[in-house]
Amino acid sequence: MAKPSQVTWGGRFSAGPAELMLQFSESVSFDRRLAPFDVAGSKAHSAMLAHVGLITEAERDAIHAGLDVILADIAAGKFTWDTKLEDVHMNIEQALTKRVPAAAKLHTARSRNDQIATDMRLFFRHACGVLREKILGAERALLTLAESNRDVMIPGYTHLQRAQPVVLSHHLFAWLEMLDRDRARFADVAAHANWCPLGSGAIAGTTLPIDREFSAKALGFVDAKGRPQVTQNSMDTVADRDLFIEFASACALFGVHLSRIAEDLILWSSAEFKFIDLPDTFCTGSSLMPQKKNPDSCELLRGKSARLQGNLHTLLTLAKGLPLTYNRDLQEDKPPVFDSFDQTALCADVLAGTLAGITLNRDRCASAVRDPGLLATDLADYLVLKGVPFRDAHHAVGAVVRLAEKNNVEINQLSTADVQQVHKAFEADWADVFDLKRALSKREGTGMPGPKQVVKQFARWKKILNE
Ligand code: ARG
Repeated sequence: MAKPSQVTWGGRFSAGPAELMLQFSESVSFDRRLAPFDVAGSKAHSAMLAHVGLITEAERDAIHAGLDVILADIAAGKFTWDTKLEDVHMNIEQALTKRVPAAAKLHTARSRNDQIATDMRLFFRHACGVLREKILGAERALLTLAESNRDVMIPGYTHLQRAQPVVLSHHLFAWLEMLDRDRARFADVAAHANWCPLGSGAIAGTTLPIDREFSAKALGFVDAKGRPQVTQNSMDTVADRDLFIEFASACALFGVHLSRIAEDLILWSSAEFKFIDLPDTFCTGSSLMPQKKNPDSCELLRGKSARLQGNLHTLLTLAKGLPLTYNRDLQEDKPPVFDSFDQTALCADVLAGTLAGITLNRDRCASAVRDPGLLATDLADYLVLKGVPFRDAHHAVGAVVRLAEKNNVEINQLSTADVQQVHKAFEADWADVFDLKRALSKREGTGMPGPKQVVKQFARWKKILNE
């Protein structure tokens, strides 16, 4: 049987929600983690109310003291969350009201609509900071791996076919570029979050004489010069979920990067490549096949990227077609965001841990990179320098490759006479092309894997990652 409502909005209701409706509509089971942000928002709001004279300083102080006790109780696991009170906001407000009479004034000039928008902006600022640190950790592990294997060369691949030789560091630095863009993306999301919604109310602000800039400053929603930043349209403020989508998108794209890095690691650790050994601590065995060591951390990194994409998709679909402004649908915006945050944080740590434990099989790398086919393009460049147009040179080297295949030898085992039959521009020095070190030292343009460039990139990354 429906009972009279206990909740804050109960005034116009003759009956409270059905048990099933309570179960269906509660969000406190997942939004309770917003408590520290909700309390910070309430403190700033009540400070503002006192500042403009809507409550007394004594009332403000009582509210602040009460909120501190509640937050301490929450942190100590002593707070009783009640699903009948729907969400984190009403749970905290009701608990405060039991302690402090002045709490009845806290919701003056405020709605849960601008309140949740504020909580989430504070959450995003925090979450972006955490993820940036964790990604930095993974980047540092990558730099360490590159540093301890500076001299290692491997084939680079296109279409998963051997293409051209690179130093391992060049490949690892490619991953660093990806991860560093992710880190920057989270900084962008944090910057977008840095606008204060308080004062937007439910949809159209308030008739009361509030000071939005005061609240913004109190919560640190300020620009580089310390000037308060407040959102500029009350309707947009309570309807807008762009940040949720941007955050989930940054997580999803990071996930795509993780999945590509993980895939390379999985390939490199297979018996077919055997370039690396993954750490035992991040692998598992088979319950049936005793010889197996499976690259589970990498496979899960690859797998979790699906989940991060799913969360982004959920949020896009949730926002699509919703009329302005707030609709209760929007309560469903939090589980995917929290899941993306938690999983992204875990993934960054697991990537760092996995990278830190990798050992290189130098012999395997060396024998793979010795494949002279990797320098076929260099051979074409050799002909170009002898005045042969590139298209002809490409064709001639193709014929050299075919000849080697026919004779069942590597291309550098053909004789000078053999290659001269293919193209008369080949001279006795043609075989110098197959000196790997020399080949790499010719690639000294910016962004290429030549040794001087690699030294520069080491210096650059050291600077970026230790700032
Ligand atoms: N728990 C709600 C949410 O997360 C808070 C905002 C509720 N607003 C409302 N008008 N019912 O969306």
